[in-house]
Amino acid sequence: MSTSYMTQLRPQFHFAPKNNWMNDPNGMVYFNGEYHLFFQHNPNDSIWGPMHWGHAVSKDMVTWEELDIALYPDEHGTIFSGSAVVDWHNTTGFFDGEAGLVAIFTYHLDKGDEQPPVQTQGLAYSHDNGRTWIKYEGNPVLGHTDKIDFRDPKVFWYEPSQKWIMVLATEQTISFYSSKNLIDWHFESEFGEGLGSHLGVWECPDLFLLPVEGTATAKWVLFVSIGDNPHGSIGSKTQYFVGEFNGSHFTTTQKDTLWLDHGYDNYAGVSFSDIPQEDGRRIYVGWMSNWRYANQVPTAGWRSQMTLPRTLGLTKVANGWLIKQQPIKELFDYTENQVTDIQFGKSYETTSPLTILDMVIDNMQAGQVTVTFHFGDTEEVKLIGRGKEGFVTFERANSGNIAFHDFFKQDASVTINQPITAFQAIIDRYSIEVFINNGRFAMTNLVFPQACLTSIQIEANHDNIHISEGTILVAK
Ligand code: FRU
Repeated sequence: MSTSYMTQLRPQFHFAPKNNWMNDPNGMVYFNGEYHLFFQHNPNDSIWGPMHWGHAVSKDMVTWEELDIALYPDEHGTIFSGSAVVDWHNTTGFFDGEAGLVAIFTYHLDKGDEQPPVQTQGLAYSHDNGRTWIKYEGNPVLGHTDKIDFRDPKVFWYEPSQKWIMVLATEQTISFYSSKNLIDWHFESEFGEGLGSHLGVWECPDLFLLPVEGTATAKWVLFVSIGDNPHGSIGSKTQYFVGEFNGSHFTTTQKDTLWLDHGYDNYAGVSFSDIPQEDGRRIYVGWMSNWRYANQVPTAGWRSQMTLPRTLGLTKVANGWLIKQQPIKELFDYTENQVTDIQFGKSYETTSPLTILDMVIDNMQAGQVTVTFHFGDTEEVKLIGRGKEGFVTFERANSGNIAFHDFFKQDASVTINQPITAFQAIIDRYSIEVFINNGRFAMTNLVFPQACLTSIQIEANHDNIHISEGTILVAK
């Protein structure tokens, strides 16, 4: 393990900015053999401040190279969240017959203490695979309405009507706009009143079609992140709706609020644009933090990391729908098996910067399984699954530095209402991503131990519970 790894204490398999502050993933797009990840960035401080778009590229979504800042604030405001697309047919006229990248983002303009800020949408385009950007001279392309929150455009090409669709967060609702050229936008409809959770401000929407597992059909999925409500008990979180979209309206019969993640640290997640059809995956990345304490997390010189990119699936269950999410397969090009027959009652040591625990468990409804992640002699995280109802808790109260915010010490928990059959946990320094039942439930949580992960201890409290497959993978 290199000295810089030990001293910088940075994640090794998750994107984190070299320096200073990062929040939402922005403009994720695949083009000319590269995955682009832009991100909300304050290059001048390690707390949130005037927003820019930082930029990183990758060939496989695991190893990232951070490039120069892509978008700087200008007279229309600072650069809030948004998306990027490939304009394959030069609908914008920016590309002289060739395909190129267009970023669609929110301008946030502060008007001083007396007036609310103004949010509008702007465009920028690149002729050199995202290395440099030209702001569209006619910005902003979608002006201000009476809504204070009017932001985070996610744009995609809707084949049936041959139009771009923009999905926008508009003060506790999501609005849909359409355009032939990304420049002139027409309001189509608004969704969300009285539906889902409104505990915090609606932000960072995404809309895409997902195949339904085991069928030849597909449904439209709408992601909506809800910002922190300082009085609420959940902090910031992402919910989703499953329904239909006809190019103009999104509709759903869903009654329940569905959460994408049951941990505290997966927010503002959106999916990549333009992943080739022959690949066919819908892959998203979330910001691995929570507005409740994001500005206080104890890292030095840089702040925040992204989740691992995750492949999404959709499953029909008795009472509705479940989004299924699993780490991208490319991650496993970097790992090898260390143990292939893990057993209860044992403890497994690791010195790897990346450790993955993968277990298929039989008959867990008979009792309780406890996985303890030890970080040195005194710090630990407990993941506990129990009972017929599948109650899972993630305890980080003894995980190291928790003093930076009161909210951080509380347990994360979920009742999955089905027997637990499988656990996967991925530990990369400051984070533990847990996937339950092949990704049908996710729990993403940060931890700030002083030592790296040193061992994983696995126990069951009933003889009838068995591990039918159990592997520990480490970095190659
Ligand atoms: C979500 C968010 C977005 C906004 C950005 C500002 O985390 O609040 O709505 O565009 O962060 O940094």
